[in-house]
Order: sequence, then C-alpha cells, then structure tokens
Amino acid sequence: MAEERTPAAAAVGDPTRGDPVRRDPAPLVVAVVPEAALSPADRAEIRAFLVAAYAPRFADVFSAHDFWGGPAEGRVLVRTAGGRLAAHCGYGLRTVAVGEREVRIAGVGAVATDPGLRGRGAGRAMFDALAGHLAGDAAFLFLECADPVVGFYTRCGFVHARATVTAIEPATGAPDTSVSNVLTRPLAGAAWPAGDIDLRGLRW
Ligand SMILES: CC(C)(COP(=O)(O)OP(=O)(O)OC[C@H]1O[C@@H](n2cnc3c(N)ncnc32)[C@H](O)[C@@H]1OP(=O)(O)O)[C@@H](O)C(=O)NCCC(=O)NCCS
Repeated sequence: MAEERTPAAAAVGDPTRGDPVRRDPAPLVVAVVPEAALSPADRAEIRAFLVAAYAPRFADVFSAHDFWGGPAEGRVLVRTAGGRLAAHCGYGLRTVAVGEREVRIAGVGAVATDPGLRGRGAGRAMFDALAGHLAGDAAFLFLECADPVVGFYTRCGFVHARATVTAIEPATGAPDTSVSNVLTRPLAGAAWPAGDIDLRGLRW
C-alpha cells in the first residue's frame, strides 16, 4: 500500500501590502511505492519520465531500464494533482562498511524532477517523504552525485563529504574504488562516521 502525503502549500504574496504575487501552484502528491506494487505501465511511465528528465544524457539506459545500478526496493513518486509524474527516485536498503563500522543505509538513485516542474520543491518533498517512511529501517539516506547538484542535496538536508567509495562495477562484476561526492542525510540523529566506504554491491 503506497503512503501518500501532500507537501505544504507554497507561500503566496499579499497583494494588499504590495507584495509580489505569484500564482500558488497546485499541490503535489508524494507517494512511497514498494517495488512489487509497480505495474508494467508504471515502469514504462518511469522510463519515459527518466529519459525526458535526464535528456540528452542516459537515453540509452533509461529507454531500456527504469532504474540504474543496485536493485530498488521502492520508489518515491511525486505527482501533480492531475496525476502527471513530477519527480522520481528509487531506493534500496543495505548494510555497508564505513571504516570499521557497519552502517544501515538507503541508497538512493535515479533522482529527477520533470524539467517543467523544477524549483517547486518536488525534490525536497521526495526526500522528506522517504526519510519519514524509512525512519527505524535505516540510519541514513545515501547517494553519490556530480558537482553541479551537490548544492541541491545540501538544501534538502544532506551533508556533503568527499570520500573514497568502493562499489561493484556492473560491466566487470569486480570492485572498483574512487573518490566521489558522498551525500548522506541522517535519519536517526547520528552523524555519518569517518572512514572509507565499501558499498558491498552496486551503486544506485
Ligand atoms: C536536481 C533536481 C532533481 C532538483 O529538483 P527540484 O524539484 O527542482 O528541486 P527543489 O525544487 O525541491 O529544490 C530544493 C532546493 O534546492 C535548490 N536547488 C535545486 N537545484 C539546485 C542545484 N542544481 N544547485 C543548487 N541548489 C539547487 C532549490 O533552489 C531549492 O532551494 P531552497 O532551499 O532555497 O528552496 C532537478 O534539477 C533535476 O531533475 N535535474 C536533472 C537530473 C539530475 O541531475 N538529477 C540528480 C542526479 S544525482
């Protein structure tokens, strides 16, 4: 059963005080959907959405796959009131190694907002819903990203670090180690521990 919630309505200026007025956009509806609940039509919709949202990159990947890397256990789907897909991410739970510690994370991937619906808080609403849904099941949301979107994730409650990450390369099946932007959002209060990260599997 998908959980649904509606992000807080956007603030609108008061015209009687001369504030700038902008139209209050219709609310977005956020649902956390388990993987098993996705129909073939849902998956086709997600593929088409990801091709358009990442264009011109990754069309070859997302025209054939609705997720990238480690298997997803669920999705966060943000829709307009009319039902149009506004934003998407997938997540998978895994216990990884950070230095000497075992850390339970939800790896997050295929994060995107429809190009026509960006800047409305769909991305933030997605992570707030996922954090609420996973509280108690994982200690952190985790992802890696390129430099231009680090600022987006830090605005959404993630903490940025440059860290050494080992993950399985899908092409070879062998572990590969590199330094990347690691973004973690605490779900249980504790800070992300220091140390090299071994994802013990594919990235998301
Ligand atoms: C990155 C992306 C998902 C942002 O989605 P969005 O729905 O527009 O984001 P939101 O409206 O929820 O923005 C939340 C906050 O992040 C800020 N923000 C958004 N994109 C940003 C960016 N690239 N850099 C810095 N800040 C950014 C917003 O201004 C907002 O700030 P606020 O705290 O002042 O309100 C969207 O631009 C996208 O789909 N990009 C292409 C795909 C992509 O790069 N995905 C990430 C792969 S790792």
